[in-house]
Amino acid sequence: MELKGLKRTTYCGLVTREFSNQEIVLEGWVNRKRNLGSLIFIDLRDREGLVQIVFKEGNEIFEIADSLKPEYCIKVKGIVKERESKNPNLYTGEIEVICDGIEIYSKSKALPFLIEEGYDVNENLKFKYRYLSLRDERCQKVFKMRNEASYAFREFLHNDGFIEISTPILNKSTPEGARDFLVPSRINKGTFYALPQSPQIYKQLLMISNFDKYYQMATCFRDEDLRANRQPEFTQVDIEMSFVDEQDVKSKMEGLIKHVFHKTIGLTIEDKFIEMSYEDCLNFYGSDKPDIRFEMKIMDMKEDFLNSEFPIFKDCIENNKEIRGIKAENSSFSRKQFDKFTEFVKNHFGAKGLVYINYKDGQIASSINKFLTEEDKGRLTEKYNLKNGDCLFIISDTKKVVLSALGALRLELANHLELLKDNKEFKFLWVTDFPLYEYSEEDGRYYAAHHPFTMPNEDDIKYFDTKEYSKIRAKAYDLVLNGEEIGGGSIRIYNDEIQKKMFEALGLSEEDVQNKFEFFVEALKYGTPPHGGIAFGFDRIVMFLTDTNDIKNVIAFPKNKKAECLLSQAPNEVSEAQLDEIGIEIKNED
Ligand code: AMO
Repeated sequence: MELKGLKRTTYCGLVTREFSNQEIVLEGWVNRKRNLGSLIFIDLRDREGLVQIVFKEGNEIFEIADSLKPEYCIKVKGIVKERESKNPNLYTGEIEVICDGIEIYSKSKALPFLIEEGYDVNENLKFKYRYLSLRDERCQKVFKMRNEASYAFREFLHNDGFIEISTPILNKSTPEGARDFLVPSRINKGTFYALPQSPQIYKQLLMISNFDKYYQMATCFRDEDLRANRQPEFTQVDIEMSFVDEQDVKSKMEGLIKHVFHKTIGLTIEDKFIEMSYEDCLNFYGSDKPDIRFEMKIMDMKEDFLNSEFPIFKDCIENNKEIRGIKAENSSFSRKQFDKFTEFVKNHFGAKGLVYINYKDGQIASSINKFLTEEDKGRLTEKYNLKNGDCLFIISDTKKVVLSALGALRLELANHLELLKDNKEFKFLWVTDFPLYEYSEEDGRYYAAHHPFTMPNEDDIKYFDTKEYSKIRAKAYDLVLNGEEIGGGSIRIYNDEIQKKMFEALGLSEEDVQNKFEFFVEALKYGTPPHGGIAFGFDRIVMFLTDTNDIKNVIAFPKNKKAECLLSQAPNEVSEAQLDEIGIEIKNED
């Protein structure tokens, strides 16, 4: 039976009592069928939800209904009636549609999994049949939220006078930052484009071009190892402004983020975002993206062990290394658990060991018990205000090892103690005063910590002359939410002299600069306005808005850990003819 010419009148999920006794036409998928002999019930699903369709015995329509299977795509016509037994759990649960016309658009094969399992089903199936897992109501919700978020960003930025401009996808490879994805050129054999890691250089050029306030929902590509919060292809909300300083950018962006979280999940944030220097973040939290929803700050404990006979502490004091620790409260760890924490800091962070001092029932138990006098114990108990269940964890080593190991242990402990269970807070934090350079022991040279166009702090410019590059702070800032970096940016160099110093420190010769950045350095010579900006990780923000820990859940067609698309099987081999055209031969790996 066909319902030719009849148009859909509403969505399945929106039919309520207001439609009672009206004739409606619906289109959607068969979610579930129940056959009670003389009656058949079907839950019909579309993007707005489910509605119950009823078929009564005795006509051709009933027979068609009997042949329906899950995920058949159909159209129905019928009259809306109030139900006798209502379903309070369903938005449309007060009514049902008595069907008097049906058309089957297309049948469905037997399914690899139930649609309502689409969000949780095992990853290989979920992404192989992504078009099916996306039919699940929970997946649909995620992408509706993603849409709300992108609208909220655009709404704020448009109303504030920002102009959206697209920048190229086929770019010049400029080897700073992560690894580029390369695209061979057919017309210019032997040469390559790079996919943009971000629109950084172009947005700065747009400032030189007098656009003043730019933004773009930009797809970015980075060939790096994937994690739960990283995809090779992801979306940035990329922003740049002229004639601004750090405070201007931060306060405008705070307004933007507050708007987005308010419009999407109704969150109202009155307070200004907290700011903390990179140095403080490392010293107190052992991380440049600290989760500040709980305290457990790192403490300098060197003073407490100046006269310790414990060989490792002794060695650290003699060799001017660090002794620092954290205090876990209300804990009750077994011996086995202490061993696990020790393995954790040893295996992942190169710590040589982990000392614990556990206060329980008025007694101290410690992994260095024999090196602690009664007086030591009393002093530590008083100084650190140890109460029943409190435990000090201490590491001594170089500053780098101590801070990274304790920073990670802090999160591990929070997890074990369930400090963040059911915590629905959103704690934003601006991290400021990053170092301009990072020194690589391995390569024996400095790298730009952010990118080579980041403006140094004026007070630190003197260190260029003394070549004390690690003392130079950058005018850079990251926005961190609950321990996750959701955005990062900086004020840029607009002065030729400083740009030259920056390149010098990076060990780039005039020739290197010509090859890599010539077009950009040339542009900086034509009246560059002071400018700065930021890019937000849009996918990461949507992860927060939809309460998921896996970035793949917020991307319609993501890649797996091996950067493969399980649905299309990309990347794939290409034909000899295609390779010939671009002049490429594949090397055998042996
Ligand atoms: P940055 O490299 O810090 O800055 O990137 C900005 C934000 O993008 C997000 N992000 C990612 N999200 C998912 N998968 C990835 N692989 C990934 N990499 C980064 C993070 C990060 O904070 N051009 C500069 C910005 C600027 O200076 O204006 C830039 O790209 O949330």
